Amino acid sequence: MDGNGRWAVNRGLPRIEGHRRGVNVVKDIVTECRRIGVKYLTLYAFSSENWSRPEKEVSFLMRLLKLFLLKEKRTMMKNNIRFNVIGRYKELPAFVQKELTKAMKETSGNKGMVLSLALNYGGRIEIVDAVRRIVSDVLSSGSGMAPENAAQAVNEDLLSDYMYTGGMPDPDLLIRTSGELRVSNFLLWQIAYSEFYVTQTLWPDFTAASLHEALEAYRKRDRRFGGI
Ligand code: IPE
Ligand code: MG
Repeated sequence: MDGNGRWAVNRGLPRIEGHRRGVNVVKDIVTECRRIGVKYLTLYAFSSENWSRPEKEVSFLMRLLKLFLLKEKRTMMKNNIRFNVIGRYKELPAFVQKELTKAMKETSGNKGMVLSLALNYGGRIEIVDAVRRIVSDVLSSGSGMAPENAAQAVNEDLLSDYMYTGGMPDPDLLIRTSGELRVSNFLLWQIAYSEFYVTQTLWPDFTAASLHEALEAYRKRDRRFGGI
């Protein structure tokens, strides 16, 4: 969800106004995805690199996140949406963690769609965390497995299971707003065969119609997964 800052600056507004407007777009896009039957929607909301922003902007984003959860939990319940977080969210301020945990718990029985927010998320760190957990599980399992056998047991499926997204399918489509042609450390493992769609539209200007344009482009792609 890129371009909030530029959207605001283009209008002579403080950057935080772009974030405020961006949250309304989140609501619209989540609702539209649910309506058309998208099963998994993952939004990159705060990267592990975003801490380097001015303290005032970071704390505004944290408060905005809390407000979003308080306000939209009802919409999630009404629309049968399960709320999920990926990333090292235990490093977020306690007041945010509390709302995240509550939202995940309260929506845990919902089956219509999984809405994941990537928070304090970094794709490389995710891989590091996965490998750490694998090593720790092997060492604490007491299986007495020979090192060679343990090493052989590591495969792509196992790594996928140990990612924050364990149990979720890889994304079919990745949409990047604001025209930037880079991945910015998002779902590095999972996007190996995802289709990319880049739009110049800044996130605060992104609408349900923009989403349908992206889906239309996706529909025309010929996905070969390395075949012919
Ligand atoms: C939103 O857009 C992304 C968040 C971290 C919330 P930006 O804040 O990166 O906007 P630009 O790139 O400065 O325009
Ligand atoms: Mg940006």
